[in-house]
Amino acid sequence: MKKNLPLLFLLLAGVLSPVARADEGMWLPALISQRIGDMQAKGFRLTAEDIYSVNQASLKDAVVLFGGGCTGELVSADGLLLTNHHCGYSYIQKHSSIAHDYLKDGFWAMDRSGELPNKGLTVSFLDRMEDVTGIVLQGYDERTMDERQRDSVVHANGARLIRQAVADGKGLRASVEALFYGNAYYLFVYRVFSDVRLVAAPPSSIGKFGGDTDNWMWPRHTGDFSIFRIYADKDNNPAEYAPDNVPYHPKKFFRISRAGVQEGDFTMIYGCPGSTKEYVTSDEVRYVSETSDPRKIALRTLRLDIQKKYMDADPAVRIQYASKNASVANAWKKWQGEARGIARMKTVAAKEAYERCFRQWAEGTAYEGVLDTLARWYAIRNPYYLASEYYVETARSVELLQLAAAVENALSTAKEPSAAVGELADAFFKDWYLPIDRESFDALMEAFAREVPAELQPAFFKEILKEKGSVAAIGDELFGQSLFTDAARVKALTKADLEQVRQDPACRLQRAFYAWYKEELMPVVGAANERIRLAYRRYMRGQMAFEPDKVFYPDANLTLRVAYGHVKGYSPADGAYYPPVSTVKGIIEKDNPDIYDYDIPQRLRDLYARGGIDTQPVCFLATNHTSGGNSGSPVLNADGDLVGINFDRVWEGTMSDIAYDPAFCRNISLDIRYLLFVVEHIGGAGWLLDEMQFTDPPAKKGKRRAI
Ligand code: ARG
Ligand code: GLU
Repeated sequence: MKKNLPLLFLLLAGVLSPVARADEGMWLPALISQRIGDMQAKGFRLTAEDIYSVNQASLKDAVVLFGGGCTGELVSADGLLLTNHHCGYSYIQKHSSIAHDYLKDGFWAMDRSGELPNKGLTVSFLDRMEDVTGIVLQGYDERTMDERQRDSVVHANGARLIRQAVADGKGLRASVEALFYGNAYYLFVYRVFSDVRLVAAPPSSIGKFGGDTDNWMWPRHTGDFSIFRIYADKDNNPAEYAPDNVPYHPKKFFRISRAGVQEGDFTMIYGCPGSTKEYVTSDEVRYVSETSDPRKIALRTLRLDIQKKYMDADPAVRIQYASKNASVANAWKKWQGEARGIARMKTVAAKEAYERCFRQWAEGTAYEGVLDTLARWYAIRNPYYLASEYYVETARSVELLQLAAAVENALSTAKEPSAAVGELADAFFKDWYLPIDRESFDALMEAFAREVPAELQPAFFKEILKEKGSVAAIGDELFGQSLFTDAARVKALTKADLEQVRQDPACRLQRAFYAWYKEELMPVVGAANERIRLAYRRYMRGQMAFEPDKVFYPDANLTLRVAYGHVKGYSPADGAYYPPVSTVKGIIEKDNPDIYDYDIPQRLRDLYARGGIDTQPVCFLATNHTSGGNSGSPVLNADGDLVGINFDRVWEGTMSDIAYDPAFCRNISLDIRYLLFVVEHIGGAGWLLDEMQFTDPPAKKGKRRAI
């Protein structure tokens, strides 16, 4: 199979990366022995067994998947857990009211009895992970079975493994995950705790300092943390919330280092990155960076501009749309960094060059033709897929249509339809501002009509557009006649009104769009995706055979990973350089009582005025390869002690989900010393520090180390 190697090497110069470059990579803890040599060479002083072991307590036992998409870490023998403020946000919000606005003012339990339970919140410890590829594929025959049959074999074998894995223990959950596009399967067994209580959260003016202006940016000064505690039954096992549950005693918790970090220091991140696609073809990268990202950015710009106009004009509207605006803005900014980063790195051209070499190498092998297969199916899929992305960003994001769909669904399926509709209506109308929704409808649907090829648009939409003459006229009728603009009418609906609801213009429009999405777009997209997935399995194997010396890491899938790197600044643009550490001085520079996101607590101003804290570090940058889901991850130093909490990346480096660039990819972490400072001096909750373990000698009571 290997032919013409020397010539090929010439061809490949600058194209291949025989080992993962620089600090790139999200490694499986169970296979960390493959990387431990490199980690130690870069300064790490622990062993592979210290990171992951099934025989003894290891660092993995101090890390959890927090909720459905963040990471958290244990910092005390009594189950104290740290994560980000933005990860705890919705729970903090649920405990908030006008009388107790914990989001705005912060929340500090003053003893354990003050800790607040959170319905629906779970944390999952990884008990073990193991390679089950052989078992999962038992009974699969490549020559006689197609992809569907393979799926059902995988599913049946996987289900059996999962049943066996959870049979013998309380709170166990298991899943079988495909890695490398199904070239390998791993079983992950978790212990899930569901009594997780809120212990502390800083005021938003610290935890979300800088808001969406600073989001994805450096210099950063956000104290993005919140504190929880895991409770267990009296035998230390997972249990549903009960007042007499007791703090959980973890197998392992992190010691905290107050020594701080300096440029060049080794850092390791242990957490759960959600999703990356590092091994896709140039076609996919081109689609993402030249079509999908720019189109979605433009659609969201329309919405954000409209939201901003009304939010600036009215403080009540600003509060109503704060959270919606944040989530629209979050991906909007990430995509900008991603598209620009891919263009800057010339990833499409680099992948094309790689693919030319791969094609030549693959001639006569099992991998011949796989790139053509992928290209063919992408060409079939992409117009439909793009239309589906338009759907999500336009019709599906019109709030009135969302309400109509939810109410129709509740009336036809809920056990107590009237109560369910009442709840929906209360939640909706509390935070809905008609002029924003109305103007967004016009802007988004006009973009839809203009930019989605006519032959792909839903027939119903084309008809009413023709009949009414303009999107604005459709909007006039929709917002003028739909009963869903009227809170009182919505709240009065009962099951008997279902037929009337179905005929409402909002329901009709949303149903037409949904039917089009499901019946016209998804069959093509789904069938193509199945073929694409199959081809990627072969292409992935091919890439591994093509570069036999390279150590590959599997794409992220919310399973536990290790990323290691070092503290490092970067140059965002010509003539500019950012050092890797920010300090309290920068908070004071940004402080502005007139701008909500920069209006720090008076207490912090007073502390600053007393002097001595301007060099207190707040955040730092490092080269760890992280992604969404790594929020809240522990940042460990060379001794495996906690020095920070990961919470973001710089936007110039967000293309690391597709291609990692050592010059621009930086994760942003909160310096643990700023957390300690805020807990003690802003929250007055120094009692929490007493149960943490520090690597430096404990300070005498009442004389805690000044930070
Ligand atoms: N950019 C971070 C992440 O991707 C933080 C998001 C929350 N903060 C915000 N200002 N929207 O999820
Ligand atoms: N804030 C992100 C999260 O919620 C982490 C940032 C990133 O994408 O790296 O997981």
